[in-house]
Amino acid sequence: MKYTLQSSAFALLMCLSSTLAFVPSSINAASPWGTTTESALKMADLNLDTNFDDVSVVRLLGLKRVKNIIRRNKAKTESALKAASAAETSEAAPAAAGKSGLKLIIAGAPASGKGTQCEIIKEEYGVVHLSTGDMLRAAVAEGTEVGKQAKEFMNAGKLVPDEVIIGVVADRLEQEDCKTNGWLLDGFPRTPGQADALASAGVTADCFIFLNVPDEILVERVVGRRTDPVTGKIYHMTFSPPDDEEVLARLEQRDDDTEEKVKVRLEQFHANVEAVKGSYSEIGVDIDGTAAPDVVSKAVGAAIASKIAA
Ligand code: AP5
Repeated sequence: MKYTLQSSAFALLMCLSSTLAFVPSSINAASPWGTTTESALKMADLNLDTNFDDVSVVRLLGLKRVKNIIRRNKAKTESALKAASAAETSEAAPAAAGKSGLKLIIAGAPASGKGTQCEIIKEEYGVVHLSTGDMLRAAVAEGTEVGKQAKEFMNAGKLVPDEVIIGVVADRLEQEDCKTNGWLLDGFPRTPGQADALASAGVTADCFIFLNVPDEILVERVVGRRTDPVTGKIYHMTFSPPDDEEVLARLEQRDDDTEEKVKVRLEQFHANVEAVKGSYSEIGVDIDGTAAPDVVSKAVGAAIASKIAA
């Protein structure tokens, strides 16, 4: 009996050693990601008794079952390591960018999540967020000349003519904050003419981020979207409603966020998207925009890091 117990304990020790050996050596040591075997095991919710004082576990469960538990834990460890790696890649992204004055373009269909991601990107990289939609809505509200020209197109869900919007963006990019901090163009360029205008002005970018979301998902996102006029924060009545009753009461819906108008907006988008993407094929990264915002954000961080490193 004593012999059986000792050999079982030895076998268990061997199994556990192989579980630990499974963890890549780059993570076993204090890795550049800051992850250790211990933390990965914690993430996998493992409670391994590395002293093996409690050999009765083997006696109670039998060696086969213990081996099975270890096999299952191996799989859990693997997924925990993947999660740790994804999280730390995104944490490392701003540091990987490591330079100020990034020049970024984010594109995608109406309601693909551009504005939502821009809130995160501008915090992480300190760039100036230039949303042509926001600029035009402000111009309409103020009743400026640009606003007057843009209003009827926007109300119909159509694109504002290139000659109206190109000058607005060109002037804004010339301002000192964009030159110092870099910029994030959101919703521009949206036509081949706008992309050509940027190129002719010698404006180049570090990364072109494209959020890919199928049309059927976009309609639901559009009709449920609400914006806080005080903070500018974007909410969704189903996916991300505000917790605060006061915020909920003051939320606004955009005039063009109706099912009818989004169909026109999508037509305009599909008519131009391939040509615009073609202008940025060398710095372009397609990202699955259907995942949760924090998952999309991690992919965006990795995309920026990859283009800065290239
Ligand atoms: P603009 O304001 O740029 O509108 P858009 O391109 O249609 O994009 P949206 O603002 O509707 O969506 P978004 O991608 O920012 O999505 P969001 O993050 O809000 O342009 C408006 C108009 O201005 C145009 O139609 C045109 O007339 C004119 N215009 C602008 N630029 C122009 C240009 N360059 N040339 C000519 N005309 C121009 O997210 C949408 C919703 O989904 C939110 O409720 C959000 O909470 C939710 N959501 C976001 N991400 C996720 C996620 N991952 N999962 C679930 N829900 C999510």
